[in-house]
Amino acid sequence: MCGIVGYVGDKQAQDVVIEGLRRLEYRGYDSAGIALVDGGTIASAKKAGKLANLEKVIAEAPLPASTTGIGHTRWATHGAPNDVNAHPHLGSTGRVALVHNGIIENFADLRARLEADDHVLVSETDTEVAAHLLELQVESGVDLTTAMQRVCQQLEGAFTLVAVDGQDPSRVVAARRNSPLVVGLGEGENFLGSDVAAFIEHTREALELGQDQVVTITREGVEVTTFDGAPAEGTRYHVDWDLSAAEKDGHDWFMRKEIFEQPRAVADSLLGRHARNGLLQLDEMRLSDQELRDIDKIIIIACGTSFYAGLVAKYAIEHWTRVPVEVELASEFRYRDPILDYSTLVVAISQSGETADTLQAIRHARLQRSKVLAICNTNGSTIPRESDAVIYTHAGPEIGVASTKGFLTQLVACYLLALYLAQVKGTRYGDEISEIMRQLESIPDQIAAVLSRADEVYELARAHVDTRSVLFLGRHAGYPVALEGALKLKELAYIHAEGFAAGELKHGPIALVEEGLPVLCVVPPRGRDQLHEKMISGIQEVRARGARTICLAEEGDTSIEPYADHLIRLPRVPVLLQPLVAVVPLQLFACELATAMGHDVDQPRNLAKSVTVE
Ligand code: F6R
Repeated sequence: MCGIVGYVGDKQAQDVVIEGLRRLEYRGYDSAGIALVDGGTIASAKKAGKLANLEKVIAEAPLPASTTGIGHTRWATHGAPNDVNAHPHLGSTGRVALVHNGIIENFADLRARLEADDHVLVSETDTEVAAHLLELQVESGVDLTTAMQRVCQQLEGAFTLVAVDGQDPSRVVAARRNSPLVVGLGEGENFLGSDVAAFIEHTREALELGQDQVVTITREGVEVTTFDGAPAEGTRYHVDWDLSAAEKDGHDWFMRKEIFEQPRAVADSLLGRHARNGLLQLDEMRLSDQELRDIDKIIIIACGTSFYAGLVAKYAIEHWTRVPVEVELASEFRYRDPILDYSTLVVAISQSGETADTLQAIRHARLQRSKVLAICNTNGSTIPRESDAVIYTHAGPEIGVASTKGFLTQLVACYLLALYLAQVKGTRYGDEISEIMRQLESIPDQIAAVLSRADEVYELARAHVDTRSVLFLGRHAGYPVALEGALKLKELAYIHAEGFAAGELKHGPIALVEEGLPVLCVVPPRGRDQLHEKMISGIQEVRARGARTICLAEEGDTSIEPYADHLIRLPRVPVLLQPLVAVVPLQLFACELATAMGHDVDQPRNLAKSVTVE
């Protein structure tokens, strides 16, 4: 998830682009770069790290004046966050400069073809192939718009591309497929941005683009086409947010924005994993099939929300692969002298990739000769760097301190790992794996359906503003969801909240239940295993003691109705995947309750996003 800016007009493009990047920096800050069109050539600068590093480079070696330019702030996916991998990328002759957000899935094939034709690609990115392809087109004599249309037809995956041609200062050309891009409409100037924050200080008139469209901006106007060159139209709208809301895409909190980004984050994390031959592929899985076949035990280590993702993973991995899984708090792991050897796979789950407890735990595991696989959202961070293998999640930067999209994409990565192991070890047939992948691929739409009913959850949350204690119940994969729901409420609303396995309640915690106590119950889907019936028994037990039950249950489940004081409907998904949809209302509930209580949702008291001390 990177930030992209484009400008053509009368102002100095450098100023507009750098300011736009500053507004988009929340989207990624692994590197930043700019390209300007300067009298027949491209002038560019790029630098790893925050935008401030790029500004320093430009201050030391100023770029020429120009009124046409593009810029990029990177959140690394392919390739380490260094200077070479920073955008913009240029073609062989340096005539074309291009920035990109997304993942070009077939970049390896395209790169091989370019290299066979003597192109020298200098970065590890998927983006550079598009710069070379675009340049080949303009060198053949077509304009940049036609070149972009032709290149897009060769690309697979999700992408926003924005490019300039050194020999044509009149235009900036962009394209989008499954990745954001908006046009800012000015007077004698036009803008491009990943979102309106990029240009809102210049214009509030915007054009939303459709899927698979190419847009050309000039001083005089904007032209939209399809990838095959047919005329197309965007949807014009007026932005009525202020600048700070624009950075949050109109939301009051980054956390709320991130909750609503979850369909996209889950889809991005699944992108490119399911090959056309039906097999799963994990690019960064640096462990051989034989090493994976030799694994006879898995230990998952993580902290907080990531630990709960690990608890869900245990259900999936054991069920699909029959390999025993232990889940450990990273802070406890190395102090209990765990039994580890070369046939143990240690899986470290960390959104930030910098959590000290988790880092120390993987160092301990590697000293004991175990292989370590990281599941991480931050490319180039310490935990994946020190691991033998990695599965990156593609949530984009998580700014809100409380993890939301980080958690959902960790779950996706855990399911992918489980299915990949099942594929390699042969514990599940290919058809079955493909069917589960299809179910996973439908989850973004299911999450969107849950989000479309957010108002119902908000109303419920506001009705609990005086509540001092809330319990959460779940069973099976719904149990970690209950724990996560309680953690969100503790950290955001600062009220007593606890999650329990519903069957465990009668062994002690039921003593907490008193008249009017809200109990949120994650009800498993109906199935052959009696889980649903057992959950209803647990709900009856708390209700009989005066609790007010708020039940999250799948659509069509009428048997729950007599036991629910309030019902939140979930889409119908298999029990193992239910956490992906069930946690969403709990995130919304905590976010809204904390807001109603007047708390700072993005920066809750006493907490930090990345905990780099043990
Ligand atoms: C809770 C939360 C924390 C983190 C934990 C681990 O909302 O965000 O509990 O999950 O500190 O952080 P990472 O995943 O970065 O290792």
